[in-house]
Amino acid sequence: MKQMVVPSILSADFSRLAEEIDLVVSKGAERLHLDIMDGHFVPNLTFGPMIVNAVDRLTDVHLEAHLMMENPSKFIPQFIEAGVDTLMIQQETCPHLHKDLHLIKEHGGRAGVVVNPATPVSLIREVLPDVDHILIMTVNPGFGGQSFIETMIPKIQETREMIGSREIDLQVDGGIDLGTIGKARNAGANLFVVGSSIFGEPDPGKAYQDLTSKLGVPV
Ligand code: DX5
Ligand code: ZN
Repeated sequence: MKQMVVPSILSADFSRLAEEIDLVVSKGAERLHLDIMDGHFVPNLTFGPMIVNAVDRLTDVHLEAHLMMENPSKFIPQFIEAGVDTLMIQQETCPHLHKDLHLIKEHGGRAGVVVNPATPVSLIREVLPDVDHILIMTVNPGFGGQSFIETMIPKIQETREMIGSREIDLQVDGGIDLGTIGKARNAGANLFVVGSSIFGEPDPGKAYQDLTSKLGVPV
């Protein structure tokens, strides 16, 4: 699967979102990560389908939305309608995960599942035939700028082994920077969400390029 850095706009300056997005898209970013937080599942609030749709009108790149919210199935149609291409739901919020993943597909989205650091990846084994995308949280979700949890490395390896020859993207999210991206790549991840280490830097375009260049180099 293609290896890519995926900028998360969580740490971008929303008063100049179009310029911020352009800084990374002009340097080759092919996807953007949109963090949706409800103040219940995670102790923070962000934005909903209206802002997602504004982003969709600003750029042609692939949009992935990470739903950190209770009852996500209620909003699946709205997020896809707003322009989301890959929609990710957290295992911990979905007692009917199989059904919800198929709801995403029925609405034309790519279906992704997310697991928190404390959630064993064995809990998503039975839905592997139903997913296009797996996201391993490498911080506890809710805020940008947290430190990568090193003990997630064996979990990334275990997930890659579980995926086997299936066409499933394996993504990591949280604390990815120049020091951790290579370790996550070597463990088997192919997509790398980066928020503060891109948009918290003085030159986000250069930060995106520096991180991308790390993917070619064994560490
Ligand atoms: C955290 C979010 C992340 C966040 C990552 O709850 O899911 O996508 O943007 O931010 P950094 O890269 O700063 O850890
Ligand atoms: Zn995220």
